[in-house]
Amino acid sequence: MREKIVAGNWKMNTTPAQGVELLKGVAAGMNEVCDCVTMVVAPPFTHLSMVAEAAKGTNIHVSAQNCAAEAKGAYTGEVSAHMIASLGVEYVILGHSERREYYGETSETLNKKMVQAYENNLIPIYCIGEKLEERKSGTHFDVVRQQVEEVVFNLSADQFAKLVIAYEPVWAIGTGKTATADQAQEIHAYIRGVLAEKFGEAANDIAILYGGSANPGNAAELFSKPDVDGGLIGDASLKPDDFIAVAQGFGKC
Ligand code: 13P
Repeated sequence: MREKIVAGNWKMNTTPAQGVELLKGVAAGMNEVCDCVTMVVAPPFTHLSMVAEAAKGTNIHVSAQNCAAEAKGAYTGEVSAHMIASLGVEYVILGHSERREYYGETSETLNKKMVQAYENNLIPIYCIGEKLEERKSGTHFDVVRQQVEEVVFNLSADQFAKLVIAYEPVWAIGTGKTATADQAQEIHAYIRGVLAEKFGEAANDIAILYGGSANPGNAAELFSKPDVDGGLIGDASLKPDDFIAVAQGFGKC
């Protein structure tokens, strides 16, 4: 059975103290979430260590939102995958559309970041997704194919087995416009098919998360689709009750 994952991307929100409170709020609601769901939170770098510490003894896993493309050295302002892993953090979000768009991240950079993530035993949550114009012009399948081929196809089979993918249509992020469950299913199945071209049956074991205005009102329908294995949640992950309610979209098993 594929892993079910609900991950909260806090983006550039919360102070360290607020982040720890948020983590505690999520921890308090964990008994209302099915044990079958892996819960992940991704705080900003400034409080990664505090949140990772507070998450010890809970079932909540911690992720970074990014990592450097290089291992170490004279890269002012960067944070290495090794530093992140040394905090007990297990995941790293890579290739989020906000980083591609505002910080010029390309497949070339992301290939380097992938290498760093795997060398330090971090599980990458690799984000892909098309912009509104691309969806309107019907090129969204080609866009996600390219994002997969240029980065994921460079992984070894062992590396691929640990990967998590997040499909996040840019037009749905923070806009209140969610892809319909059928739209999500259609493209998730397509992405899985592309992965299978390179990795065969192993593609069936990869969790593909949906991201983009997922919330307590639409999570259950999205998660009911066979190729939607969870969510990467922005706004709704900033309130413990909402985040827990999203995870409850998987019901009880
Ligand atoms: P929203 O849930 O706020 O639309 O953000 C989605 C996202 O970008 C998660 O990485």
